[in-house]
Amino acid sequence: MSFKHINFFMTKSFKTFLKHTAKDFHNQSVNPPVVRASTIIFKSMQHIRKTQAKAQKNPTGGYYDYGRQGTSTSHILQKILTKLEESYHVFTTPTGFGSVFLAIFSVVRPGDEMIVADPVYSPTRALTQDYLKEFKIKTVFYNPHDLKTLENNITKKTKLIFVENPGSNSFEFQDLGKIISIAKKNKIYTAIDNTWATPYYFKPIKLGFDMSIVSATKYYSGHSDVMGGSLAVNKKVFNKVRAAERITGLRLGPDDAYLITRGLRTLDVRLDRHRENAKKVAGFLSKNKKFKLLYPYKKDSFNFRMWKKYYSGASGLMGLKIKAKNVNSIRKFVNSLKLFGYGYSWGGFESLALHQEFRETGNRKYLNLAKDEHLVRLHIGLEDPNDLIADIKQALRHLK
Ligand SMILES: Cc1ncc(COP(=O)(O)O)c(C=O)c1O
Repeated sequence: MSFKHINFFMTKSFKTFLKHTAKDFHNQSVNPPVVRASTIIFKSMQHIRKTQAKAQKNPTGGYYDYGRQGTSTSHILQKILTKLEESYHVFTTPTGFGSVFLAIFSVVRPGDEMIVADPVYSPTRALTQDYLKEFKIKTVFYNPHDLKTLENNITKKTKLIFVENPGSNSFEFQDLGKIISIAKKNKIYTAIDNTWATPYYFKPIKLGFDMSIVSATKYYSGHSDVMGGSLAVNKKVFNKVRAAERITGLRLGPDDAYLITRGLRTLDVRLDRHRENAKKVAGFLSKNKKFKLLYPYKKDSFNFRMWKKYYSGASGLMGLKIKAKNVNSIRKFVNSLKLFGYGYSWGGFESLALHQEFRETGNRKYLNLAKDEHLVRLHIGLEDPNDLIADIKQALRHLK
């Protein structure tokens, strides 16, 4: 497979690149076609061997001899994401969680230890805390606002530091540069779940992370109708991740790859609008004494300083810490939002709300919740923010 007819050249700005990349002049279509294949067909045995030799020499070049390795459709998405991440390569998986698993599985072995941020996405917690324990892999969780709990837990067996920033549902921002220098000093691999910001607002590989995960289900696709994941890597871990990817068969299918590529065309436009809308809603919410806003809005906090230090923007996902003796008043508040859907995931064009319980947070050690305090998560979509504010205003009367 040659990609000479597909233009991947980088234009002046990434926004322009997203609009002009991957035009298919061979098929004369603005978007490249969906190439579905299990069998990849060759003209002769010699052509198969030639392709295999090329794949060995250039493993990121898009040379395939079987559909499980991908087709041109997944390769195009990987090339675009590699530019966005400014990484050595990007692997794509059938779900975001597949990328979380692939990152860990690539570098951690029985007998090793991992240090994981306490507020990780709850399935990541279940994987590391419970499931991997059965494979003799020990996990210690660190306090995202006290990196001594990270440093003090490093042993000779520590292989990986796994970060999620900001914390899932509790939105703690960490000193990422400090984590990288601790890891480098101790020669430990690093991975980060960067789904909240995407590399559009923060580029982990540039900062020094070895691996960076994004659930493509969220902002990359942007339309709540596809699942996928991406795992960006530097050169150091490329071969390890490639080997793990081959052995697990964790690869994104062509139809989903196409939808994610299509979503990426407008990533910048959508994320910038999510940011603007979320900022307006945060401005309204930050004035209310009934709750604490969990979003980088008020300048006087550690979270804000850490966000400002590493990020060029913020997405549409935020939290509220609400004190209420009667949990029903919180449920009533959430249930009376008319423009917010109730359901999992986020990153689509629409607003969503969820009352968080143990199921969503897991058994965290450092979840800073006082008695009778609850968490509500809001995803601020692309609606008119004045309508969203009016909706929240009318629902607030239920908070007692
Ligand atoms: C921060 C984060 N990481 C990873 C995932 C997993 O992604 P997916 O649902 O695509 O498997 C999610 C899903 O909600 C998430 O919120």
